[in-house]
Amino acid sequence: MMNPFNYILVKTIPLLPKKLVRVFANKYIAGDSISDAVKTVRELNGGKIMATIDVLGESIKDRNEAAKSRDESLEVLDTIVKEKLDGNLSVKLTMLGLAMDYDLCRGLFSEILDSAKEKNIFVRIDMEDSSVTDITIKMYEEMRKRYDNVGLVLQAYLRRTENDILKLTTEKSNFRLCKGIYIEPESIAYKGRQEIRDNYLRLLRIMFEKNAYAGIATHDDYLTDGAKEIIRDFKLTNDKFEFQMLLGVREKLRSEIVNEGYRMRVYVPFGMRWYEYSIRRFQENPNVAGQVVKSIFS
Ligand code: FDA
Repeated sequence: MMNPFNYILVKTIPLLPKKLVRVFANKYIAGDSISDAVKTVRELNGGKIMATIDVLGESIKDRNEAAKSRDESLEVLDTIVKEKLDGNLSVKLTMLGLAMDYDLCRGLFSEILDSAKEKNIFVRIDMEDSSVTDITIKMYEEMRKRYDNVGLVLQAYLRRTENDILKLTTEKSNFRLCKGIYIEPESIAYKGRQEIRDNYLRLLRIMFEKNAYAGIATHDDYLTDGAKEIIRDFKLTNDKFEFQMLLGVREKLRSEIVNEGYRMRVYVPFGMRWYEYSIRRFQENPNVAGQVVKSIFS
């Protein structure tokens, strides 16, 4: 339960100067540059943890910015090979112009997937808010016909997700299942903490029944424990799933899962456009935000 002090802090964080927000955003992002991401991924790889690298940013305003985002993703792919990193790429399609011009996005994303395919690197499409769910899935389906190194994120809070899994799963489907982070209306999304958890585990079972590969993306013990139970029920081997967590979140739980012999991948965001991402992380974890702000002001 969020205490009232933390609640007020979380609401005021967006009003603070960016420089100050950055001080406590550092926990959640690798840094501004690709060399910062390389350093973070190396450290993770040293601890037997894989990575997925994300160039920070969301919906872009013009075609030049979309092309720049493509270039940044291509640079990540080149760097993964050059630096021999155990990692793949996560992409937000709105950064490639999805919400502005579907065809433009298709062209830019194809270039990324061509390069990734040649390098044998997997690319994950992050799922954004519900205004783009349909077109994100459309793009995924289109690309999946041409590439098998592409996978999608599905959100357990959306009521539609069960149908999406049933519709989308084919041989070698690879999904990341997360709760979902955007604020969505009750008409399309479950709202209760427990009902989202229940749906998450139900969907995970369906994914495994349909023989999909699952990235189990959560920091919630209830779900990691529930997932392990399902993994035992289905007698799944490690090549059928992996756990996934965000950089800087619940590192103790992360180590426990790794020490139990499960595969773990950490989401490593980097780049100049760190602000919105960090604000979302604080809003998820007001207690951390509370501690940091207290330490800054005391
Ligand atoms: P929950 O929010 O209940 O957290 C469980 C516990 O973890 C909390 O009680 C707290 O202790 C701790 N915790 C959670 N967040 C924390 C934080 N920021 N700092 C410190 N502690 C924290 N969403 C989406 O809509 N589209 C996407 O593409 C993705 N991609 C994605 C990738 C990966 C690898 C992960 C792990 C998550 C995502 N998400 C996402 C975000 C996801 O939807 C969800 O919002 C967060 O993972 C939080 O949900 P949990 O399942 O962790 O539970």
